[in-house]
Amino acid sequence: MNSQSNNSRYMVDLVKVSKIYLPDIQALTDVSLSVNRGEILFLIGKSGAGKSTLLRLLSRMDKQTKGVVEVDGHDLSKIAGGKLQRLRRNIGFAFQDFKLLPDKTVAQNIAVAMEVSYTRSSVIRMRTKKLLHHLGLADKYNTPACELSRGEQQRVSIARAVANNPGLILADEPTGNLDRETTQLVMDLFRKYNERGATLVIATHDESIYRDTDHRIIELREGRIVNGHPAPEPDHAFADRMDEEQGSPEEDDLWMSDQ
Ligand SMILES: Nc1ncnc2c1ncn2[C@@H]1O[C@H](COP(=O)(O)OP(=O)(O)OP(=O)(O)O)[C@@H](O)[C@H]1O
Ligand SMILES: [Mg+2]
Repeated sequence: MNSQSNNSRYMVDLVKVSKIYLPDIQALTDVSLSVNRGEILFLIGKSGAGKSTLLRLLSRMDKQTKGVVEVDGHDLSKIAGGKLQRLRRNIGFAFQDFKLLPDKTVAQNIAVAMEVSYTRSSVIRMRTKKLLHHLGLADKYNTPACELSRGEQQRVSIARAVANNPGLILADEPTGNLDRETTQLVMDLFRKYNERGATLVIATHDESIYRDTDHRIIELREGRIVNGHPAPEPDHAFADRMDEEQGSPEEDDLWMSDQ
């Protein structure tokens, strides 16, 4: 895990956050939400409710109009430059529209996130192969992204999001194009990263992935939280435990090494 754990804080802390897209689209209104380190949180709500907007604010792809957005203890409106880059390296984003580089191969697309962290090329190759194997895409290693089906593109974008072993994984409708069996592969992958300490925020319409869950479910309606429990107090012991368990990020200590 690459988390530089600031263990006195939540992984995500939003306080009265609003987002207006000019001239007058109120995408989020007064959203306050905390996510504990090591949580899996499902963000649900109808199309247009503000789920993707919220995830974009967490990755600083977009800025809130009002309120405070903190990630890993950093106020995102107050950090820039190298600090922001380091924080971003610790966030994996699986986009609703995938955002793959169409002319690059599957392996090159997945490598992008790891290369910015100066991961050794042998480690990049091994992680990529294991991720593709897990997601049922072992034979697509050298395939250009533009030749993939939508469900395959979706899985590649998920592999890219988790490959760097980030402390925070943001997944925007990650199973929207997948059948039931492949959905299970993806959720199994997320669970394994979560067991290793990653915090996950999953925006979804797919009731099958949260129907029987014990994890928190937060519902957005027209940009406001209408349903959901507050986060428990921050789990300091969890952050300490993770710090002790994690080896060097240079080592290939991913869960996949046991396969
Ligand atoms: N870049 C943008 N410019 C203007 N309006 C936007 C922009 N992005 C989103 N919106 C608007 O903000 C609101 C929230 O959109 P958002 O994409 O966050 O919804 P969502 O819950 O992710 O929906 P879906 O389930 O369809 O993905 C919508 O009314 C949308 O039209
Ligand atoms: Mg969306």
